[in-house]
Amino acid sequence: MQEISDPALARGVLTDPAFRVPPVPPGDTGLPWLRATVSRFADGPAHARRRALVEELLAGIDPASLAAAAPAHPVATLAAALGLPPTPSLVADVRLVAAAYQPTPVDLPSSDGPGARVDRPTSEQPAADAAVERLVATLGGAHDERTAAHLCLLVQACAATETLIERARVSGVDVVLRDDPPVPATRRQASVDTVVGGMAITAGEVVRVSLAADPFGAGPRACPGRAHALALASAALAAPAPPAPPAPPAPPSETRAAHAATTQAATARPRAAHAVNIRPEGDAR
Ligand code: HEM
Repeated sequence: MQEISDPALARGVLTDPAFRVPPVPPGDTGLPWLRATVSRFADGPAHARRRALVEELLAGIDPASLAAAAPAHPVATLAAALGLPPTPSLVADVRLVAAAYQPTPVDLPSSDGPGARVDRPTSEQPAADAAVERLVATLGGAHDERTAAHLCLLVQACAATETLIERARVSGVDVVLRDDPPVPATRRQASVDTVVGGMAITAGEVVRVSLAADPFGAGPRACPGRAHALALASAALAAPAPPAPPAPPAPPSETRAAHAATTQAATARPRAAHAVNIRPEGDAR
């Protein structure tokens, strides 16, 4: 996969409508439904409509109230601010979903077109599917865009914020965002043949876009939860580090190797002494 690492070129790709988020297949339930119904993996009018929903939900949460919240996992704090009932499995379920959220891309043979992708089920998926359904039930049971918007916020908030908090305990938030951002890169798919900084990119090709200069992204898909993430981090950093929550089950080594090989480009990376076992995944949060 080609990489756009120059900050100005990366920003140009993130703001260029000719570069889209790689599409995900449709789905009626579980993780496929969630991916197919959130703003994160949508484009065009569907993205605009779903993004407006998450922005509306976020507008109802004052970041200052998150910063002042009692010590808790950031997902629990956010869920409470969204008015969700505090079910015992909520944080664990969101963490399960977050660990499997990014689609695993598979390059198909050339007859399917350059850069064509399918979503390859991973060993985490059955547990994540069940977790999505429990979360949907907690939100009233409707498989609609409003339910997906709530879950999108919880899942987007999960691993990246955990990682920011963990790293910031050592070096501080600003330093982490500058030197070791929780989401180091994202992916985009070219919709036309193009050239970026002398690099030829074919229509359909998926490229890795560095977020080194823009840790919360840029353009119409930039993180709408930046202020909330910083507030959640400040609340967590004001309290002593909590005991590590149980990690999601690890996939078999073969799957994990393939998973890491195909997706290490873009996400919260595990650290040697990482308390919460965030594994490499696909596109940025
Ligand atoms: C340190 C923590 C966080 C980081 C570094 C981060 C980073 C990002 C980045 C880079 C993107 C854009 C991905 C792309 O363009 O492909 C994104 C998207 C998003 N983030 Fe965050 N994020 C964080 C926390 C949060 C939190 C706490 C929330 C919610 C309260 C949130 C909600 C979202 C949503 C909803 C999207 C999708 C936006 C869309 O579909 O247009 N994020 N985030």
